[in-house]
Amino acid sequence: MNYADLLAPVHQFLHCRTPQSWIEEARKPENLTLLLTDHLVCELKAAQTAVWLIRKYVADKPSGDAILAWLQPYEAFIFREDPDSGFIEAHKNLSKRIIARNDIPWGDELLDKMVLLIKEELHHFYQVWEIMQARGILYQKITASRYAKGLMREITTHEPETLVDKLICGAYIEARSCERFASLAPFLDEELAKFYVSLLRSEARHYQDYLALAARIAPFDISERVQQIGAAEARLIQAPDSELRFHSGVPDWTNQ
Ligand SMILES: [Fe+2]
Ligand SMILES: [Fe+2]
Repeated sequence: MNYADLLAPVHQFLHCRTPQSWIEEARKPENLTLLLTDHLVCELKAAQTAVWLIRKYVADKPSGDAILAWLQPYEAFIFREDPDSGFIEAHKNLSKRIIARNDIPWGDELLDKMVLLIKEELHHFYQVWEIMQARGILYQKITASRYAKGLMREITTHEPETLVDKLICGAYIEARSCERFASLAPFLDEELAKFYVSLLRSEARHYQDYLALAARIAPFDISERVQQIGAAEARLIQAPDSELRFHSGVPDWTNQ
């Protein structure tokens, strides 16, 4: 499958493309440190979301605790800026078997897809960190973008809608990441461009996995929610934003 085939469903799913003004800002060499730092954090957050879903909805207690332990060294590095957090060793060792509670019909499906996603996101995290290391970029904490928070506001507050909405939001975040990697890659140096293109396949699959799970789990037709959350996502992407981040909107530094 070539990249056009891979991106076609992603573009169809998203309600808008990345604005040119975001690409112009994000490609500037002086913004590379910021962009890679935010990318690193996004990979961890993607893994955290999937861990949270497993723990809240499907894992038995020992499995839930085991999977939480996977993240701890990465979280120590990112949130407490602990340089000796041990995530490099942890990275090689994500293999404990996770077991779903057997009273949930879709438990195994959610678990299988999310465990694979977690492993891939943590691998991406490691790859971004390696690139930062090679370029002498030290990790320093930055503020979160408004994007994820804005999307979370769309989530219904009662089940089963909450879980379905969360999965649809997950699908949009993954699809947007995929679209942005592809949009930005042609403007980056060769090494980074190659890396971003290498991420397209897994991010496209992550969006499809989230969407398939939402459809499988919902006891109702999800198409209306998909449209509503898609429209909200596009509003966030097209609205002015005072900070450049991987998922930020149209660059607008006027009200800083
Ligand atoms: Fe990723
Ligand atoms: Fe992903």
